[in-house]
Amino acid sequence: MSMQIFRTKHFSSNGHSGHGLKRCLSAWDLAFLGIGAIIGTGIFVLTGVAAATQSGPAVVLSFVIAGFACTFAALSYAELASSIGGCGSAYGYSYVAFGELCAFIIGWDLLLEYSIAVATVANGWSGYFSNALTAIGIPLPDALTKAPELGGIINLPASAIILLLMGLLILGAKQSAKANNAMVFVKLITIAVFIAVAAFNVHPENWQPFMPFGWFQTLPDGETTGVLAGASLVFFAYVGFDAVSTATEEAKNPQRDLPFGIVASLMFCTVIYIVVSGLLTGAVHYTELNVSSPVAHALNLLGYTWASALISTGVIAGLSTVMLVLYYALTRIIFAMSRDGLLMPFFTKVNPKTQTPVRVIVISGIIMSLIAGFIPLGELAELVNIGTLAAFVLVCLGVIVLRITKPDMPRPFRTPFSPLFPVLGVLSCGALMAFLPSITWLRFIVWLVVGLIFYFVYSIHNSKLAKA
Ligand code: ALA
Repeated sequence: MSMQIFRTKHFSSNGHSGHGLKRCLSAWDLAFLGIGAIIGTGIFVLTGVAAATQSGPAVVLSFVIAGFACTFAALSYAELASSIGGCGSAYGYSYVAFGELCAFIIGWDLLLEYSIAVATVANGWSGYFSNALTAIGIPLPDALTKAPELGGIINLPASAIILLLMGLLILGAKQSAKANNAMVFVKLITIAVFIAVAAFNVHPENWQPFMPFGWFQTLPDGETTGVLAGASLVFFAYVGFDAVSTATEEAKNPQRDLPFGIVASLMFCTVIYIVVSGLLTGAVHYTELNVSSPVAHALNLLGYTWASALISTGVIAGLSTVMLVLYYALTRIIFAMSRDGLLMPFFTKVNPKTQTPVRVIVISGIIMSLIAGFIPLGELAELVNIGTLAAFVLVCLGVIVLRITKPDMPRPFRTPFSPLFPVLGVLSCGALMAFLPSITWLRFIVWLVVGLIFYFVYSIHNSKLAKA
């Protein structure tokens, strides 16, 4: 445990983190990493599904509710990222606050969150990319865009984009951040165009009835509906600000810049989400929005076909940055867990030339690429949500526990109104978990049980920190 606290000593700005990773990311790189990971499928796809089936025009309230829960969590992340540090994010903080078993469980949970998120988003990306190719007259055959179960051979674009991002991540964190910044810029322009067009086409009668599915109800098949269930679904749109905290060991000035990167990216995206979801349901009736690309579809319905094509470009860039940053976060968590002995030491090698953990990047990339290419993932967003929410609950609890057990730990950033805000974070994130369907809970529990078996068979015997 003490080794984790010791990691704060690696907050030197000598260009290296003490573990071979290179300190090269500025405050704005971190904020853009956050925006890169945050804005994606959630706003471009799930807003429509949530409006049509769970929240109605009150999807804007769902975004506000999920945004509040995330704000409490983000402030807690900012405190622990600045005081504990390390690239393991919630895994590392849980180690210090609760000990190894709990840390392992949350680390294992994050592996699920990030890898499923990347593979799922790759499937969505492939759909948009294939449509764009068809639009310019070079359609791909079904055999190359569908997994075997859906009648194809391989979802090649989904597989290939992950391998491409793998190459980028190997090149280095700075190169990845530069590519990320450029793509974030494209996606922000796209959103600005949507806001500009939709703002002049709002028909207030579309906001009636405002809350057609009520606050919350469980349907006979175990599915949930209502504004609160909608909040649990659109929570996916916020996933990713936590990924910024995995860049601690590559940030130039982590204690100052990480809180900024985490909080600024979340605040910015929250405002965008509220504006976009309000305009979307104001411009088009919510019953029209249950489609795979509601934002582009809305513009088509309004007669702006050029804008619709532009949105597709923005989505392709936007989903690429989501995959890039979540993939980045996944590799840093595997790296941190391996360094502590909980996963195989094979993964701890950092390539001296690129200063990136190449082995982790390649192996996780190949696995995710195979999953994305051969398994039709459908909607696994809720599985990502439950995993992320569990991590948020623990990070908020971590702030409360550490204020009591380690009151003198240096805290360059302090969560305001503690313990009120962290407690509200625990309650709101816990409630969003409770609103998720039972099948999601079942899948989540199965994954954790597999993790526990792994822990007791391997990790407990190899843990370096426990031995120390
Ligand atoms: N927040 C990310 C998205 O919406 C995961 O795609």
